[in-house]
Amino acid sequence: MFEHLEKYAGDPIFRLGEAFHQDPRSQKVNLTVGLYYDNEGRIPLLKTVQEAEARRNANPQPRPYLPIEGLASYRSAVQKLLFGANHEVLRSGRVATIQSVGGTGALKVGGDFLHAAYPDSEMWISDPAWDNHFAIFQGAGIKTHTYAYYDPETKALLFDQMLGQLSALPKHSIVLLHPCCHNPTGVDLSPEQWRQLIPVLAAGELIPFLDIAYQGFGAGLQEDAYAVRAMADAGLSFLVANSFSKNFSLYAERCGGLSVVCSSPDETERVLGQLKAIVRRIYSNPPMHGGQVTASVLNDPELYALWEDEVAQMRTRIASVRQKAHEQLSAKLPAYDSRYFVTQRGMFSYTGLSTAQLQALREKHGVYIIDSGRISVPGLNTHNMDYFTDAMASVLRG
Ligand code: LMR
Repeated sequence: MFEHLEKYAGDPIFRLGEAFHQDPRSQKVNLTVGLYYDNEGRIPLLKTVQEAEARRNANPQPRPYLPIEGLASYRSAVQKLLFGANHEVLRSGRVATIQSVGGTGALKVGGDFLHAAYPDSEMWISDPAWDNHFAIFQGAGIKTHTYAYYDPETKALLFDQMLGQLSALPKHSIVLLHPCCHNPTGVDLSPEQWRQLIPVLAAGELIPFLDIAYQGFGAGLQEDAYAVRAMADAGLSFLVANSFSKNFSLYAERCGGLSVVCSSPDETERVLGQLKAIVRRIYSNPPMHGGQVTASVLNDPELYALWEDEVAQMRTRIASVRQKAHEQLSAKLPAYDSRYFVTQRGMFSYTGLSTAQLQALREKHGVYIIDSGRISVPGLNTHNMDYFTDAMASVLRG
């Protein structure tokens, strides 16, 4: 019955993560999937998460269905984290938020929603991008294109080209943007550049779709939400997909949110209703555990402060790893410009290594980097840094 189907080649990111685990060598380095590891190479179980779970276990509760839109305490916590507790869009009831199945679930529901609301709209995604963005939105029936974003020569943003291209898009085009820690390049717009971009989005009546999966890993939880808040300040209507996979280290719990900023409370009610209708026909309602845990941390001032601190520790470690990689590479290979390690931010660095260099790193040294040359920086630590920079230097020398 199904013999005619193509074989799935596997996801390019997860496939390489699996290949790493199957590699029998003891000396190897995993820089593939965007997972935060601590200095000992472990995925942390945050203290705040453990505390919230302990409280929950001390008072076991039955597990009925959650509402289609998710837990109310979770949804309002997501809104406060994204927009700031007292933002006008929240006070005036202009944000429709649902609890989603991870950030990816939010993108999928948002894609279905936009395709139904604006069937002729097409989407523009940064070049390069997280590969799954194309798959998710094409799967929702939306035609995708790319806009200029990153210059491999200078390893910097092509801001003028980006601005020029976006200002020429047809009305109601959808523009996918990363408020912080761009995946895969680690190159972000500055606040000043966001301030220049926002009037272009408004003038073109474009529909921004912000994907914020690494809030807190760039400059800070509040700072990383700059673009979200600036767009809300400017009175734009837009969508935001957020994820707690990384900043709560709760990957498998699939905790995310989709928020749509609307122009009135009446519109918000209509939008929330449509989001619920989409959720009901895909997965009916979201899971409970991760939502309850994150909501109890976000809504408890004491736990929130501890969590901020835990996020700061992850952010600081990533920054120090970046610094170390740059220092060691500059010392071992002075002709090689490794400044991108420190100018790029968040989880990822975009090395620009060639296919042959990536292959040599993998085969000769057991250093696993995905085919785009993107490094997931937290895979580096004080124990494997020397080994990594030696391997890089050896391959770059050719
Ligand atoms: C990544 O880009 O590695 C992460 O966002 C994990 C994923 O789902 O691809």
